Amino acid sequence: MKNYILIGFMGAGKTTVGKLLAKEKGMQFVDTDERIVSEQGRKIPDIFAEDGEAYFRDLETELLKRMQEDTCHAVISVGGGMPVRKQNRELLRSLGCVIYLSASKQTILERVKNDGSRPMLNGGDLEERVEQLMKEREALYRQAAHIDVRTDGRSIRHVLQIIGQETRRFG
Ligand code: S3P
Repeated sequence: MKNYILIGFMGAGKTTVGKLLAKEKGMQFVDTDERIVSEQGRKIPDIFAEDGEAYFRDLETELLKRMQEDTCHAVISVGGGMPVRKQNRELLRSLGCVIYLSASKQTILERVKNDGSRPMLNGGDLEERVEQLMKEREALYRQAAHIDVRTDGRSIRHVLQIIGQETRRFG
């Protein structure tokens, strides 16, 4: 196994689950948002405000390309918009086993409602924005993923257990 890659909507639990999965498997944990922030020396809302979304998306693609060369045996958590580009979906699948953490709109809203650090959710009605983005992305997440794990109403421990079972089957 090369890597485990966690994808899913903002607030789906990618970072929390990813860190625990890495600990459990004795693997390194990598977060693409964190890498971009540290390489750019500025926070995501600042990158969006100063250079725009397209620039951030290019940074994501460029990072995934580098990860083909320098990242193996890691648990990788990626930003919620990473699988939107077709090229990224292909890059993600070539990095290893892609796990889609899905959650209902209500669960997502509960988790993101008090967080102002996500520029994709700024402006307008939060529920409408989440609903619209989820609708646009759902099929793309499924296209990118090898494994689909629902997180609604499940403890992190249970989610990890399911990931364990499913990834064993994946090989
Ligand atoms: C984004 C999700 C964020 C971050 C950026 C854009 C998105 O990551 O990459 O704000 O388009 O869904 P999280 O999914 O970790 O919040």
